[in-house]
Amino acid sequence: MKYEGIIFDLDGVICHTDEYHYQAWKTLADKLGIYFDREINNRLRGVSRMASLEIILECYEGAPLTDEQKEQYATEKNDVYKKLLGNMSEKDLSKEVADTLNALRAKGLKLAIGSSSKNAPYILERIGLGNFFDAVSDGNNITHSKPDPEVFVKAAEFLGLPAEKCMVVEDAEAGIDAAIAGHMDSAAIGDAVGCGKATCNLTTFADLLKEVEE
Ligand code: BG6
Ligand code: MG
Repeated sequence: MKYEGIIFDLDGVICHTDEYHYQAWKTLADKLGIYFDREINNRLRGVSRMASLEIILECYEGAPLTDEQKEQYATEKNDVYKKLLGNMSEKDLSKEVADTLNALRAKGLKLAIGSSSKNAPYILERIGLGNFFDAVSDGNNITHSKPDPEVFVKAAEFLGLPAEKCMVVEDAEAGIDAAIAGHMDSAAIGDAVGCGKATCNLTTFADLLKEVEE
């Protein structure tokens, strides 16, 4: 086997919370009179909550905001987002993803989450994967967000594996950059395919089964 561990991004890879992020940021942007669309939302993939807010504020024309105000707005966005996450259930985990995860585990691979999100444990619980992964590295245990490799380096550490034995699965260019910076191979899916920087590209999640073989 080429790898001993697979580290999965969560949002946009294991499940799809993008629409909820969009709706929650849109609610805040509308309140502040800031232009915000799905193209800007795409730039938020893999980026931390506070860094996402800074991207949204690029179109803000009011008086400069204090750090306290920014914290307050990020909290407001997260309150709306968490309410929307409450709609998620085991139905939001596709059969393809569930079957592929089980097949990877059956091959003896260790499986981890490497997500920028502080809501990762809640999302995993909603979709029925609360106790599934061998390790969870997320926005709660890092100080630097993707493209910094910290979240993946920690995930590999939690699994007890060296970087070269791990593969990262990502839908964000920032996540592929983070894998490269952490000296890990990467598989791009969805939006990240376009950046052309990953070790391999997946057309569909189940393609991963072919990529992990020697
Ligand atoms: C990432 C998302 O997984 O988590 C980003 O791709 C998001 O869009 C980031 O900003 C932080 O999420 P949270 O849940 O901590 O606000
Ligand atoms: Mg993602």
